Amino acid sequence: MSALRCSGRAPVLEPDVVGLYSLDTERTRDRGLRDREMKQDLIFAFIGGGNMAGSLIGGLISGGCRPDQFRVADPDPQQRERLRGQFGVQVTEHNRTAVSGADVVVLAVKPQAAAEALKGLGSSAPDALYVSVIAGIRESQLKQWLTTEVAMIRAMPNTPALLGCGVSGLHAEGTISAEQREIAENVMRSSGTVVWVDEEALLDPVTAVSGSGPAYFFLLMEAMTRAGVQLGLAPEAARLLTQETALGAARMALESDIDVTELRQRVTSPGGTTAAALEVLQARDVPEAIEEAVHAACQRARQLADEFGQA
Ligand SMILES: NC(=O)c1ccc[n+]([C@@H]2O[C@H](COP(=O)([O-])OP(=O)(O)OC[C@H]3O[C@@H](n4cnc5c(N)ncnc54)[C@H](OP(=O)(O)O)[C@@H]3O)[C@@H](O)[C@H]2O)c1
Repeated sequence: MSALRCSGRAPVLEPDVVGLYSLDTERTRDRGLRDREMKQDLIFAFIGGGNMAGSLIGGLISGGCRPDQFRVADPDPQQRERLRGQFGVQVTEHNRTAVSGADVVVLAVKPQAAAEALKGLGSSAPDALYVSVIAGIRESQLKQWLTTEVAMIRAMPNTPALLGCGVSGLHAEGTISAEQREIAENVMRSSGTVVWVDEEALLDPVTAVSGSGPAYFFLLMEAMTRAGVQLGLAPEAARLLTQETALGAARMALESDIDVTELRQRVTSPGGTTAAALEVLQARDVPEAIEEAVHAACQRARQLADEFGQA
């Protein structure tokens, strides 16, 4: 069976002055100190105790936080029992009980449950830092439901976060302190890599690239596996060859200094097998179709945010 390998502590990528992203080791060292403070002192409340909450709590506890630092509110008794049993955290059905006295409130309900879950909640923890992982709902709308002007950071994670291999786009307004940004980074790093964006509107492209992105790769993997079977491979062999190839290609792209265009050119000998495959993909305009698909996802993310804003 294929094993998914994740690197332990994911890096934080910061936009540099020319808009590229780079690893910043000095800041990472500083963060280690804050990280320790965070593990010892902060109380975290989670509103919604589903998949994403479980992943973040699990990541934070395995990173050194104590179970007694967490309070989770969820209406589902089975969900509460699962989290209490799995992590030893405090659970409650009342959102206000969870947030009262918390330093960090993580909003982790589905978008359609957010209005009800957040209603007037801000007054129970007006000084806490709110980190929302709720897809597509803008900060202004969240604050309107909370009915309090709280410090908020929005994060857009993706599904591999459930395995600790996710990537999250993060946005904070200029009023958010460096310490609050570091706390939010540490929360989201427990499920993978973190990339900051300068404007909240850029979380829609984040949704289109990395939020919906796993599905694009799954589609490619489905087609490659199907072709392998058509060419005579056993289904399990075709699946494993495809999965390990996807993982290996992603690791080469991540771990190499060489950009993906050159990596692609290096494995494409003129007249060879890879060239034959890429000619078909180019002739069918597959690269343009993928760009168009990502634009469509972004457009839909904007529409959904507008719809929730009118809720
Ligand atoms: N999972 C991902 O890969 C992923 C990726 C990116 C973003 N996100 C975002 O993360 C958020 C959480 O996703 P998820 O996958 O963790 O969803 P989930 O597994 O459905 O968890 C949400 C939890 O919130 C509970 N809930 C419903 N109403 C509530 C209320 N009024 N107060 C408190 N809790 C309430 C739900 O309980 P019931 O089941 O009883 O309704 C459920 O246990 C969503 O906004 C999603 O868009 C998730």
